[in-house]
Amino acid sequence: MAELVDMAKLVSLCQRRGFIFPSSEIYGGLSSCWDYGPLGVELKQNVKKAWWRAIVQERGDMVGLDAGILMHPRVWEASGHLKGFSDPLVECKNCHLRWRSDELKGNVCPSCGGELTEPRMFNLMFKTFMGPTEEEASIVYLRPETAQGMFVNFENVVNTTRKRLPFGIAQMGKAFRNEITTGNFIFRSREFEQMEIEFFVKPDTAKQWFDYWVKERLGWYTGLGIKKENLKLRPHTKEELAHYAKECSDIEYLFPMGWSELEGIANRGDFDLVQHSKFSGKSLSYYDEETKEHITPYIIEPSAGVDRSVLAFLCDAYDEDIAEGEKRALLHLHPDLAPIKVAILPLSRKETLSPMSKEIYADLRRSFMTQYDDAQSIGRRYRRQDEIGTPFCVTVDFQSLEDKQVTIRERDSLRQIRLPIAELKKTLQTKLEGEDLFVLPPGGSVWKEGEASK
Ligand code: GAP
Repeated sequence: MAELVDMAKLVSLCQRRGFIFPSSEIYGGLSSCWDYGPLGVELKQNVKKAWWRAIVQERGDMVGLDAGILMHPRVWEASGHLKGFSDPLVECKNCHLRWRSDELKGNVCPSCGGELTEPRMFNLMFKTFMGPTEEEASIVYLRPETAQGMFVNFENVVNTTRKRLPFGIAQMGKAFRNEITTGNFIFRSREFEQMEIEFFVKPDTAKQWFDYWVKERLGWYTGLGIKKENLKLRPHTKEELAHYAKECSDIEYLFPMGWSELEGIANRGDFDLVQHSKFSGKSLSYYDEETKEHITPYIIEPSAGVDRSVLAFLCDAYDEDIAEGEKRALLHLHPDLAPIKVAILPLSRKETLSPMSKEIYADLRRSFMTQYDDAQSIGRRYRRQDEIGTPFCVTVDFQSLEDKQVTIRERDSLRQIRLPIAELKKTLQTKLEGEDLFVLPPGGSVWKEGEASK
């Protein structure tokens, strides 16, 4: 069995290096809320960029949407969230901690062994008020999923894009759930981001599209470096299916706390379009040119969490090894996801090296997220970049002043190539796009860290 990453080590790395901080930390933090720091925001954006690229940009059958977080309250009546989006809550009569009774193993408080209250259903939607009066009529909800924005815009999208079935709408954005139990770092929080697809299909093709999307989504994670053996598919039993779903499978990842849901893929049937037609009074059917009939499409929904994806990519990338006799922690992040693509490291802080180094830095910065670091020994600086997952370091040394060549050092293989500065940007570009890392550019040479150049 694969070795599980130690969550405490990962959390420590994330805080120490500026990936993720507890929210409002100077005030003691806010339970289960997190802030993405300078490196975390890059990683998170790269995850979203990779998803958008695969789902929207590279497909002809998908369009994007960015609907508001606040929606008409009737949306949540139609969707079933007002009535049914609840978890059973119990409270310990002794220590007053609250738990989800469906997640408890026994019938006493897991923390102190105290007696528990009877379960009561607790709605997970956050309420707020629209406008200056705090009264029943002005209640609105922070959306608990991005999905509904796509259902209520179905007609707008069909009319404006003239898309024919099968086609999808994709959306990324914040969702809010007043979860009873949170935890496991960014795995379950009350404010999080989703990346959701609503794929509209003819009802008799729904099964085939469901299977297609399961395969497609598994391939997206492995294509970005997640190890196959750390992913598995868990079909839902009839009893656990959500009220809207005809079929659902979770893509689970082997997180440090064990196998847990990373993404859900559901066949929602015609539930959503029928409900919104009923509640809004607007027909949301689709005219099928082939059969000359109005039909209500079925919806296949691959629904992923951004934060859970970030956590899975971090867990999968985390590694410790020995390089040049020193222990190092490193992130084998896929180059598309790495927050920093290239670090410029002048061999010494001596003034003679800085103009050339800074010139290279200024040039590369226009193409990639680039860092400049001239503090401490070169070995230390390599380790610092390894720890944040930077795939390439560029070293400028005294010989560079003579021969106008620099060294690229690769994070995973520790191999190094020396090449003319004129070839640097183009070479990094092709390497970052996944070309063979050590096909040498004209005038280059190659060796491994700690060995002499050949
Ligand atoms: N529209 C369907 C839907 O929202 P879901 O299974 O409730 O389905 C989809 O949520 C995904 O959103 C989950 O697989 C997970 O990645 C993410 N997610 C849900 N609740 C979350 C929470 N409290 N914190 C972080 N991510 C969450």
